Amino acid sequence: MKTAVITGGSRGIGRAIAFELLHRGITRLAITARTAEKLSEAKEALAAAGAEVLAFQADVRDRETMAAVVGETVNAFGRIDAWVNNAGAARRKLFLETSPAEWEEIIDVNLKGVLVCTAAVLPHMVANGKGVIVNIASGAGKVGFPELSVYCASKFGVVGFTESLAREVGGSGVKVYAVCPGSTDTRMYRSLYPEREPAAKPEEVARVVGRLVTGRLAAPPGRCVEVY
Ligand SMILES: NC(=O)c1ccc[n+]([C@@H]2O[C@H](COP(=O)([O-])OP(=O)(O)OC[C@H]3O[C@@H](n4cnc5c(N)ncnc54)[C@H](OP(=O)(O)O)[C@@H]3O)[C@@H](O)[C@H]2O)c1
Repeated sequence: MKTAVITGGSRGIGRAIAFELLHRGITRLAITARTAEKLSEAKEALAAAGAEVLAFQADVRDRETMAAVVGETVNAFGRIDAWVNNAGAARRKLFLETSPAEWEEIIDVNLKGVLVCTAAVLPHMVANGKGVIVNIASGAGKVGFPELSVYCASKFGVVGFTESLAREVGGSGVKVYAVCPGSTDTRMYRSLYPEREPAAKPEEVARVVGRLVTGRLAAPPGRCVEVY
C-alpha cells in the first residue's frame, strides 16, 4: 500500500487524511480540490513532510476531469492503491427555503461526486485485483437532522451505495468502506454551526480512515464506521 488519492484533500478532514496516510507509509499521494491556493499550500506541506505529491485542481462533479486525475496518477505512480471520496458540500437550511440549485449542488458534490470518482477508479482497482475505497459519509447518513435534509439525503445515499458496491465487488479484491464522522472541527462545521463546539478533530477521523486503508481496522467491507 503505497499510493492514495484523496478528494477534497486541501483542508479539513481530507488534509488530515493525507497526513495520516503519509505517517502510515503511504508516501505517494494525490490530492484534489477546486481552490488552487489551498491546494498548493497542502501540497507543499505534504512534500515538506516527505511525500511525493500530485495536486489536481479538479471538481468531483466533472467526469472527464476525474478520469484524467486517475490516468495521470497511474502514469506518475504506477497504480492507485487507495481512493478516499472525501470532498463534500453542506448548507444548513429548512427544506422549503432551499432552492433547486442548492439541492443540486449538495447532491451533485456529495453523492454524484462519489459515483463519478468511483466509476473512474474502480476499473483500475478491479484490474489490479486489489484496492481500497473509503467514502466519507456522515452521522447524517444514518440519522436525519432538521435543516440538513438534502445533506442527509446525499449522505444516506453514500452509505447505501457503499454497502451495495462492497457486495458487488467483494470477489474482486477491492474493499469499499464508508466512514461516518460526527461533528468535526473544520471550516464546513464552523460555518454550519457557529454557535456549537464540534466533538472531534479532523485527525481523529483521519486515524480511522488510516486504519481502514492499511487493514488495521477489521471492519466488514461495506460497513459504515462511525467516528464520534
Ligand atoms: N466537518 C464535519 O463535522 C463533518 C461531519 C461528517 C461528515 N463530514 C464530511 O467530511 C467531508 C470533509 O468535510 P470537511 O468538514 O473537511 O469540509 P471542508 O473543510 O469544507 O473541506 C471540504 C473539502 O472538499 C473540497 N471540495 C468541496 N467541493 C468540491 C468539489 N465540488 N470538487 C472537489 N473538491 C471539493 C474543498 O475544497 P474546494 O472548496 O477548494 O473545492 C475542501 O478541500 C465531507 O464529505 C463532509 O460532508 C464532515
